[in-house]
Amino acid sequence: MEDKTILCIGAGYVGGPTMAMIAAKCPDYTVLIVDINEERINAWNSDTLPIYEPGLDDVVKKARGRNLFFSTDIVGGIKKAGIIFVSVNTPTKDFGAGAGKAADLQYWEKTARSIVEHSEGNKIVIEKSTLPVRTAEAMHRILNANTKGLHFEVLSNPEFLAEGTAVKDLENPDRVLIGAMTTERGQEALKKIVAIYENWVSRDKIKTTNVWSSELTKLVSNAMLAQRISSVNSLSALCEKTDADIQEVSEAMGLDSRIGSKFLKAGVGFGGSCFKKDILNLVYLCEHYNLPEVARYWEQVVFMNEFQERRFVGKIIQKMFNTVSDKRIAIFGFAFKADTGDTRESPAIYISKWLLEEKAKIAIYDPKATKNAKLELSGIEGNIEYCDCPYEAAKGAHAIAVLTDWNEFKTYDYLKIFNEMEKPAFLFDGRNVLDHKKLFSIGFNVFPLGKPELSHLDDGN
Ligand code: NAD
Ligand code: UGA
Repeated sequence: MEDKTILCIGAGYVGGPTMAMIAAKCPDYTVLIVDINEERINAWNSDTLPIYEPGLDDVVKKARGRNLFFSTDIVGGIKKAGIIFVSVNTPTKDFGAGAGKAADLQYWEKTARSIVEHSEGNKIVIEKSTLPVRTAEAMHRILNANTKGLHFEVLSNPEFLAEGTAVKDLENPDRVLIGAMTTERGQEALKKIVAIYENWVSRDKIKTTNVWSSELTKLVSNAMLAQRISSVNSLSALCEKTDADIQEVSEAMGLDSRIGSKFLKAGVGFGGSCFKKDILNLVYLCEHYNLPEVARYWEQVVFMNEFQERRFVGKIIQKMFNTVSDKRIAIFGFAFKADTGDTRESPAIYISKWLLEEKAKIAIYDPKATKNAKLELSGIEGNIEYCDCPYEAAKGAHAIAVLTDWNEFKTYDYLKIFNEMEKPAFLFDGRNVLDHKKLFSIGFNVFPLGKPELSHLDDGN
């Protein structure tokens, strides 16, 4: 058991990239990553990593086999490491008390219990997963209730990387946050974790706090980001009624340095595995602490997101003469954002399901997410086709719906696409990524999001 041996339990979207970065930047540490999912571990050890993330292959290749090791040997890892990061999933609970809002902490607790069972020395245990504020307290109790006389120090070191830019975010983070108990032991442990990050992050970017502030900061950072998106999406609805242009409004608002320009892009709604789950968790916590007004305030961010997804489908139906039944609709993009194959909570899931309920035929193309799209829609009734290229998806379609902001969507030959579509040809740009004027001049009826439409139809809609 050694302080220079780091174990990470959970080799997912967070555990894999963060530990690969630590290993790459800290050659004098040995980093072990373990998971119960053997298929995932095999993929981490292969040439085809289990997640698509620009630049990640190089980081993994640099360290794998040198000081970075992926395996399913959880027990062996616990015995060897002095520092254990826990990066297991913390989904929304779908049963019992708090179902639909509270975080399901069963994976976390099981991990804590196996750490206690297999440890032979004192350890620092770090919350890398996103957890409700005060989870460290429960963890401290579970871990230190051991009868072996061992001491476990619980720290919080939440992760702020975004998918698609994980490598960049890890290499050059806005900040690294580490929360520790204010006790002597807590502060000693804190120094050891700071020392790891100091290998490549300047000290002024490493923010240290008490453990509760750190836990809560992670939840509310996601809530604040999502709140900006819901705010701007709510305004996109108003723009469509008034011929204002949400892109112009966002840009002009964002020039105010107090507001800032980031996270003001209107779209079909935010997706991803965390925003909704973390806000619902925040709502649950506020209810738990008897702060109903605060709970209702944050809950509205999620309601607005659902409204935006529904509004987009409503618009498609309305503009296509109030029916999409039997009409082929090409879905461009299924991932929840560009540069990832991740489809968790992607707006495309809900939009596809609602279109299928309306008896549309959908043809999905995504550069990286087809495999996950199939999993998301498995068991869903309706006419779904998965296509290898955008031209195939759009062939014979009445409409194209752009649901992800992939850059490659801008590069297609839209004249060719238009010529092979049914007429009138509709294009609903749910991410405002395409050149709308050009598409209109080709002949498309273009419906951007939160901007004046460019339609050849005088349909009075
Ligand atoms: P994930 O589902 O991709 O990975 C979690 C992994 O933990 C899975 O591979 C699972 O098999 C493994 N696991 C579960 N129980 C285990 C156990 N008992 N022993 C060993 N392995 C176990 O999840 P993720 O996206 O990496 O998220 C992990 C945490 O990080 C969550 O709390 C999430 O909120 C947070 N987070 C995620 C992101 C992101 O971009 N995805 C960013 C910041 C924070
Ligand atoms: C988000 C946060 O940005 C990370 O800091 C955080 O670590 C992570 O959640 C997490 O805890 O899981 P991520 O979900 O990977 O990262 O991606 P984002 O770039 O935040 O995008 C989330 C969603 O919001 C996407 O669907 C994206 O298309 C949408 N979005 C983003 C907008 O609609 N408009 C914007 O202006 C920005």
